Amino acid sequence: LRLGLMASGNGSNLAAIANAIAAGQLNASIAVLIYNQPEARVAQRAEQLGIPAVLLDHRAFPNRELLDAAIIQTLLQAEVDWVIMAGWMRRVTQVLIAAFPQRILNIHPSLLPSFPGLRAVEQALKAGVKISGCTVHIVELAVDSGPIIMQAAVPVWPNDTAPTLQARIQQQEHRIYPQAIALAAQQSDE
Ligand code: GRF
Repeated sequence: LRLGLMASGNGSNLAAIANAIAAGQLNASIAVLIYNQPEARVAQRAEQLGIPAVLLDHRAFPNRELLDAAIIQTLLQAEVDWVIMAGWMRRVTQVLIAAFPQRILNIHPSLLPSFPGLRAVEQALKAGVKISGCTVHIVELAVDSGPIIMQAAVPVWPNDTAPTLQARIQQQEHRIYPQAIALAAQQSDE
């Protein structure tokens, strides 16, 4: 599998996927990272890992479709067959989805369909749920929707804050995202 990662922030999921590859747990390579925030930590991580990184700053594009067209060009150039969104904080359009049908994955820090959208961890705390978690799903047009590939649950403790719950969820993200990539690829071959 040749993976193209898309990220906007910290990049801990990029690191987890790279680690799983290095450990022989995921038969894949990260062909390219696309990021949109010039200062994002994920870019430094990619450099340390020797992963080619391409900055596509959304502010340089007049609309979402033209940003997506540049993303597609970058992904095709890198000969990517799966697109892995790992904290990509922009809404994608049908342009990108149509270019990689059923081959774009996203990870979200809640048990979807609960708490889609921004600040999912805060939403879960506010709702008072006692269990939350993370979801890997195939990307469809509506935000945080599409067929679910894998989920992991974590307890929510009475004294949790957004950072403590987020950290517990992220541990599970790092565990399941590499597994979910392998599973999605296997399912699409069947
Ligand atoms: C993750 O919590 C993911 O669920 C959300 O964005 C975050 C990315 O974290 N979509 P990182 O940049 O991989 O550390």
